[in-house]
Amino acid sequence: MVVLGGTSGFGFATAKAAIAEGAKVTIASRSPDKVRSALVRLGNAAGGECVDVTDKPMLERFFADLGSFDHLAITVGDPLLNKPIMELTDDEARSAFEVRFWGQFNAVRAACPHINKTGSITLVSGLAGQRASPGRGIYAGVLGGIEGMVKSFAAELRPVRVNGVCAGVVDTELWHRLPEAERLATFARIAARLPVGRVGKPEDIAEAYLYLMKTGFSTGETIVLDGGALQAP
Ligand SMILES: NC(=O)c1ccc[n+]([C@@H]2O[C@H](COP(=O)([O-])OP(=O)(O)OC[C@H]3O[C@@H](n4cnc5c(N)ncnc54)[C@H](OP(=O)(O)O)[C@@H]3O)[C@@H](O)[C@H]2O)c1
Repeated sequence: MVVLGGTSGFGFATAKAAIAEGAKVTIASRSPDKVRSALVRLGNAAGGECVDVTDKPMLERFFADLGSFDHLAITVGDPLLNKPIMELTDDEARSAFEVRFWGQFNAVRAACPHINKTGSITLVSGLAGQRASPGRGIYAGVLGGIEGMVKSFAAELRPVRVNGVCAGVVDTELWHRLPEAERLATFARIAARLPVGRVGKPEDIAEAYLYLMKTGFSTGETIVLDGGALQAP
């Protein structure tokens, strides 16, 4: 199994859970330090490589060197830019697609020749693709596009299964850019609105990745794990 984005957050939790179930795991992301640190935290039970999903030749080399494998989990993402449409520059709007949309597209294309027929691909999206969020219009395009790709790739790449995971707010390193007090206050405010009364843990998301890898009967589906956010008033 390969986890692109496996050095942090959803990807790290997915790699850890898969190793606990006996899978042979390779994690990858851009930063050599993050790869090294994640491998240590995984008890050196995985392989690790530096890969940038926006670099197509690098992705192709990575998968060619790896050879055939069963499951691809993608959890890559860069910081979100929340800006009203009238303030967003063309470059900012275009760059919102770079890692999440084109990165995942590139990764699927580079991985395809090496994924076994009984294998699976799981992409990542987020709630802004499903819910009206002022200041996140461009991400509605990015994330809605990813969920659309999941359906069409599932039809095209059969028998390889292709699914998605759409997450609500989850306490991962992605949020560490906020000062701790602000982060905790944000999580408390969001938790109070959610039917489940808490924000997500990376382990919640890892469960979904593992489920989608293991079940042979789901394809073209995006699972929402949001603590009930889409239903909350
Ligand atoms: N956490 C949430 O609340 C939440 C909610 C909804 C959706 N999501 C989405 O879910 C995804 C994962 O979130 P997370 O919370 O797990 O984020 P995270 O902890 O920041 O992890 C992101 C991972 O992606 C890697 N990465 C970033 N750019 C890359 C690139 N160009 N090539 C290869 N790897 C790259 C990072 O490592 P390097 O820096 O070493 O590359 C890191 O391993 C993101 O797309 C995020 O937007 C998150």
